[in-house]
Amino acid sequence: MCSFHMPKTPTILAIESSCDETSAAVVHQGKVLNNIIATQTIHENYGGVVPELASRAHESNIVPVVDSALQKAGINKHQLDAVAFTRGPGLLGSLLVGTSFAKSMALSLDIPLIAVDHMEAHAMSHFIDQPFPRFPFLCLTVSGGHTQIELVEDYLEMKVLGMTRDDAVGEAFDKIAKLLGFPYPGGPLLDSEAQKGNPEAFRFPSTEVDGLDYSFSGIKTAVMYFLQDSVKSDSGFIQRNLPDLCASIQHTLIDMLLKKLVNAAKQHRIKQVAIAGGVSANSGLRERISELAETLGWEIYIPDFQYCTDNAAMIAITAHFKYLKGEFASLDISPDPRLGH
Ligand code: KG4
Ligand code: ZN
Repeated sequence: MCSFHMPKTPTILAIESSCDETSAAVVHQGKVLNNIIATQTIHENYGGVVPELASRAHESNIVPVVDSALQKAGINKHQLDAVAFTRGPGLLGSLLVGTSFAKSMALSLDIPLIAVDHMEAHAMSHFIDQPFPRFPFLCLTVSGGHTQIELVEDYLEMKVLGMTRDDAVGEAFDKIAKLLGFPYPGGPLLDSEAQKGNPEAFRFPSTEVDGLDYSFSGIKTAVMYFLQDSVKSDSGFIQRNLPDLCASIQHTLIDMLLKKLVNAAKQHRIKQVAIAGGVSANSGLRERISELAETLGWEIYIPDFQYCTDNAAMIAITAHFKYLKGEFASLDISPDPRLGH
């Protein structure tokens, strides 16, 4: 039983620290007031996120990021009704920073603590700004760590219908981008280069797996061998064909994503379709899903760019719904890097 005074119009501070973004946001009466994000650039030098460096960067970023969120919202910490944090999935050391910080705040301010599932929050990002999807809707959550199709039946109720069996699609974008010579994270760079190229110029095999699951490790290997062979006979091959290579690879990855999404929509007779996660910022995916929507009569929901990649606004809106349901965490809770698996 909760012993806290529970206003119906809560003000909640939310913290996200699952990977390489330290973020804080304040939600008041279900309206997200801000979304402060400190992106860690140190990983660019290593070609991927280095867990130890990520947790150290969270340590130094978290106080200024939280201060800035509170200041920009024009509230002080004593006006908060709850503190929320990302419990997982994510990197353990990174999650620990946000979890410990939120726990200390909840303890010192004597307010409830709310633990949020990062994947659920990506799906809930559609309730930050209008128009909101109607239940049930499908959500394709595509990021650097996850690729899954969810059936979202209510605010905090979702079933995973299919997921990747190996690499996430964002990981495939980043690894292929690295083969093409882009720095980490290469997904957005590959996307902008793709906009200048011909998506039909090269053909890459897409991997077929059963049901609504995905597999992205095959295409990464196929691209690697293709590039190795092409460069052997022509060292300038990548440079000369960069836009066409990017456009063709992006086209194949998007084909794979959308094929299963269409199957899921047919199987569940759903026409409300959303995308979420870092890769939903991809211009090709946005364009192709909009075309599909016209053909298939879907209503589609794509979050504002700042809510696609990791952010605390989505943690805040999810925390708001959890608060209304009275779903609080105890102070001895630990992060769960494999939450949802
Ligand atoms: O959701 P997110 O910020 O973090 C994770 O939870 O992983 O997603 C980051 C991923 C990275 O793999 C990044 O390359 C990819 O999203 N990404 C993109 C684009 N913008 C971000 N991939 C393709 N095209 C983009 N425009
Ligand atoms: Zn994410």
